[in-house]
Amino acid sequence: MTRKLFVTTALPYANAPFHLGHIMEYIQADIWVRHQRMSGHEVNFVCADDAHGAPIMIAAEKAGLTPQEFVGQIAAGRKQYLDGFHIQFDNWHSTDGAENHELSQDIYRKLKAAGFITSKTIEQFYDPVKNMFLPDRYIKGECPKCGAKDQYGDSCEVCSAVYAPTELKNPYSVLTGATPIMKSSEHFFFKLSDEKCVEFLRGWALQDNRLQSEVANKCKEWLEGEGGLGDWDISRDAPYFGIEIPDQPGKYFYVWLDAPVGYLASLKNYFNKTGKNFDAFMADPKTEQIHFIGKDITYFHTLFWPAMLKFSGYKTPDNVYAHGFVTVSGEKMSKSRGTGISPLRYLDIGMNPEWLRYYFAAKLNAKVEDLDMNPDDFVARVNSDLIGKYINIASRAAGFITKRFDGKVNTTWATADDAFLQNLRAVTTEIQALYEARDFGKALRAVMEQADVINAYVDANKPWELAKQEGNEAKLQEVCSRLLEAFRILTIFLKPVLPHLASQVEAQLNIGALQWADVYAPLPDQHTINPYVHLMQRVDPLIFDQLFDAPVAAESTAAAATATPSIEPIADEIKIDDFAKVDLRIAKIVNCEHVEGSDKLLRLTLDVGEGKTRNVFSGIKSAYQPEQLIGKFTVMVANLAPRKMKFGMSEGMVLAASAADEKANPGLYILEAWPGAEPGMRVR
Ligand code: MSP
Ligand code: ZN
Repeated sequence: MTRKLFVTTALPYANAPFHLGHIMEYIQADIWVRHQRMSGHEVNFVCADDAHGAPIMIAAEKAGLTPQEFVGQIAAGRKQYLDGFHIQFDNWHSTDGAENHELSQDIYRKLKAAGFITSKTIEQFYDPVKNMFLPDRYIKGECPKCGAKDQYGDSCEVCSAVYAPTELKNPYSVLTGATPIMKSSEHFFFKLSDEKCVEFLRGWALQDNRLQSEVANKCKEWLEGEGGLGDWDISRDAPYFGIEIPDQPGKYFYVWLDAPVGYLASLKNYFNKTGKNFDAFMADPKTEQIHFIGKDITYFHTLFWPAMLKFSGYKTPDNVYAHGFVTVSGEKMSKSRGTGISPLRYLDIGMNPEWLRYYFAAKLNAKVEDLDMNPDDFVARVNSDLIGKYINIASRAAGFITKRFDGKVNTTWATADDAFLQNLRAVTTEIQALYEARDFGKALRAVMEQADVINAYVDANKPWELAKQEGNEAKLQEVCSRLLEAFRILTIFLKPVLPHLASQVEAQLNIGALQWADVYAPLPDQHTINPYVHLMQRVDPLIFDQLFDAPVAAESTAAAATATPSIEPIADEIKIDDFAKVDLRIAKIVNCEHVEGSDKLLRLTLDVGEGKTRNVFSGIKSAYQPEQLIGKFTVMVANLAPRKMKFGMSEGMVLAASAADEKANPGLYILEAWPGAEPGMRVR
């Protein structure tokens, strides 16, 4: 029976390029999808940019762009990653597309008509300068527990205390530095606490084979935990980049309301483009809706999303498959620690995208486990398994067929009861089942076991020796033909993971696109193959030095450690436009004084040629006496958002150098301009 599949990955926020975690998620889903396609099933595999929300609106404003322009730029960069890693979505759309506006509003209207929307007035922090309500992450202040400064509105990075933004001492808006005020506003809520909703979700989430067991258990906890589910606040006040709530001017859907609707919107957009009928497809009971996501967003996908769909009369998801997080050499990916790997850099330095697909696949299973990207492990798996075991088979056999037999194989031996073939074909269903279950690591281990068997056959029959002996022509042709047939079958087994390599093999063997069913259809006798060209290079371990930012490279090659300079890793590459956003100016320090009550700060009065002076607090008290600095010319960031500090407003920042290891070298060195530079000159 042909399946009708609607498959998605999470919609990435349109505020940054992809990182390795995104690519892993897409590769996982892409492998599964390709497996389905090779089985002859209909798959519609879509994704989109998640365009809305306050962070994107604010980032756009900072970049001097409209939100639409801003997300448009990010969207334009997606294709090179997706093509680069052979990720084959049928469609890539945006949650700001017309389809999503319509669908989100339709779902809302239906939820409202069904009695699932309420409203209530709530109080929130409001920035009186920016005239907007502040999301928690845009409020900072002093930790109510330990007093640490500049802590976010939800938790303290110093003592790990968790609290509400209203508990912060001396709170300020990250956007303007202003002290936020409490302001009330009407918000709309989705009644998740409704008995009908809870009952539906329990049935949905705990249904056999719908969710991974650890995810189902989490859902159970959420549903049965103290107080049960709370109603979900789905509205935000203008200014907001989002979709307007029908009949509620100035109110927008919270980004997480319209984001998953973007799955449907992308599918609809795809169907409109290709002339397929969206409504009919979604109404078909045969249609399976499957979401691949990361573990951090299961709450949204296993509670909010199915409930929204259910009570607006839409089809609910069949499966939600969560994966763990990618770590790098055992650590969370982090740019500052140098463990951020740019997927584009990976491609740019000539690393093969299918090495990464193979590596991720080898480490993936159906559980919600984190997945570590480790250079030594990567090299070992690619070089010894992929190249050493699999590619090796073709390179042993194909040359002789071309040189000695005019490219013709002999497959008269390839009957259904041939033991060599039977053994190999026998694992097909097991491997298919492992792909189906997303147990890719096990699938690849099963393939490599077969590769071991074939390599043992190579060693037992030594084609290179047969080739030297006279009178062994027929034997040589059969041995090499068996090896090519085995290689062809292994290629089918690996094709979901290595689609590009498989297409090279197809060209080489001079055959059509391989499907699962082709396992049982051997190369015809006297079929002519094309001359062998080497299919895949080994990984040179040294290439990782180019891939990683400085610190990781230093750790991974122990021998180099002593010679490695201890500087901070160089930040991710930027374009000249990024640099141009930072407005650096020559500033004259016209006055400088101690700040009462602060053991770190000096108060600088700066002339930047604006006809008035600026007040800047700088943490350089340990390094300079005020009188040393007065009259000097330095460099300041002149377009930094003003910041309210305990001692007053700081209107910029002066530049100073410091060592990465502050303990070893606590020195601070303020920049000084060469004579002749004047206040207000731009530094570029
Ligand atoms: N925009 C939301 C999703 C909306 S879905 C309707 C979002 N975007 S995201 O860009 O932050 O994340 C997109 C996907 O990448 C999520 O599935 C997330 O779990 C995944 N990952 C983010 N960091 C990751 C790793 N380090 N490793 C693996 N996946 C990671 O959340
Ligand atoms: Zn604290």
